[in-house]
Amino acid sequence: MKESHLLKQVVRSLLAGQLKAAADPHRPHWHLAAPVGLLNDPNGFIEHGGRYHLFYQWNPLGCAHANKGWGHVTSTDLLHWQHELPALLPIEPYEQSGCYSGSAVSDEQGRLTLIYTGNVKYPDGSRTAYQCLARADGMGGFAKLGPVLELPEGYSGHVRDPKVWHDGRQWLMVLGARTLDDRGEVLLYRGDTLDGWTLVGPIAGSGRGGLGEFGYMWECPDLFALDERHVLISCPQGIDPRGEDYRNLYQCGWLAGHFDGTQFEHGAFHELDRGFEFYAPQTTQDSQGRRLLFAWLGLPEENEMSQPTLEHGWIHQMSCPRELFWQDDWLCQRPVAEISALKGAPTRFEGAPDELPALAIDSAWLELALSGEGRLGFGAVAELVWQPGRLVLRRQNWQSGEWEERSCPWLGGKITVLCDRSSLECFVDGGRQTLSTRYFPGENPILSARCDGDDSKICLDHWPLAACLVQ
Ligand code: FRU
Repeated sequence: MKESHLLKQVVRSLLAGQLKAAADPHRPHWHLAAPVGLLNDPNGFIEHGGRYHLFYQWNPLGCAHANKGWGHVTSTDLLHWQHELPALLPIEPYEQSGCYSGSAVSDEQGRLTLIYTGNVKYPDGSRTAYQCLARADGMGGFAKLGPVLELPEGYSGHVRDPKVWHDGRQWLMVLGARTLDDRGEVLLYRGDTLDGWTLVGPIAGSGRGGLGEFGYMWECPDLFALDERHVLISCPQGIDPRGEDYRNLYQCGWLAGHFDGTQFEHGAFHELDRGFEFYAPQTTQDSQGRRLLFAWLGLPEENEMSQPTLEHGWIHQMSCPRELFWQDDWLCQRPVAEISALKGAPTRFEGAPDELPALAIDSAWLELALSGEGRLGFGAVAELVWQPGRLVLRRQNWQSGEWEERSCPWLGGKITVLCDRSSLECFVDGGRQTLSTRYFPGENPILSARCDGDDSKICLDHWPLAACLVQ
């Protein structure tokens, strides 16, 4: 498609759809969502030139997984975002089926440079992929520099989602991959420049590092140092549920260990979030030294096309910005401190669940200390059940109407819940576990509570959170 024609379609889609999307009662007050159409993975997350840049997988023309380009927003505080020009639209033959996920770096000359996957699907169902570059053009847009890497031998057309960084000596890249015999892997490349790459080899995957069989494809890898240790985050596909683990269609988790520049020795795989929707996260280190993360609060192919927001011409949202940290050798997450600026006047309640006053949770921050056994109701369609040693997030499936649940271990510590219209993000035991979900409670939902035992008690701090619109 010619760029000018596609751009006209994007403009029409925005003119026709933006007000309708903004008027949806499910629309987040302070989370990022696309102005119209479909948003999925966070891409190119970086602090550059004094601003945070976040790009996102975007279909500006509708709510299906099609026409993927990169939307672009910037901010100085991770809260107030400004729309920038669409960064990438699929125009060229080497990206004709989408400008897929990738990352951003500041190149040797300090220019903001994007590395993304050009996806090409053929009519017979096969596909290929190119890793491509685009560089800031000085006018708010990005100039495409074309492919710099083709498929490695022995791999299927599913090789994508480059995450690139500089280790002080050389450029390094991790890529998600599916072998020809359907094993998911993370590939490592090295390069002296951003356009010349050499395969080092697989550094993790199914059948590697003691994992056993572990899926047919690993998407969206991200490898980084956090204090003295290294973390590899990735999204394996093709893992069956085991007890309370791996209950979603696709997984998202972390491996901790040591990366020596060519190999990664790591321990067990742990889910990064144990709720219903959390996928394809991407991290960056900011100028304060924080390791920050955004994730897509969605999951490919699970009840997507029955989400009620489709009526308003948009679908999906980002997680809140989170900060990663270690506690007792465990990777933990907390909402970034900046979000506290949205807090209004606090309300404190201490007592039996049945005495809880009706508190508005349309947009709210809750701090909870819970004892005994009981449940908190979020509107009529989601619940957080506390039991000794275990927390259960239940919700009514918006497609089937059935109640379903996800759970995590609970040490009995504090729980933070961030509520924003159609999403809940729970940080358990100070962030050792997180449970995130979309839910569609309707307008002005109220928090309620119930005892499941004799001596349950709630200590709750509640703050309304102000709306924080994207400009
Ligand atoms: C993950 C993913 C990536 C791909 C992108 C396409 O959600 O499938 O692997 O690059 O989405 O939108």
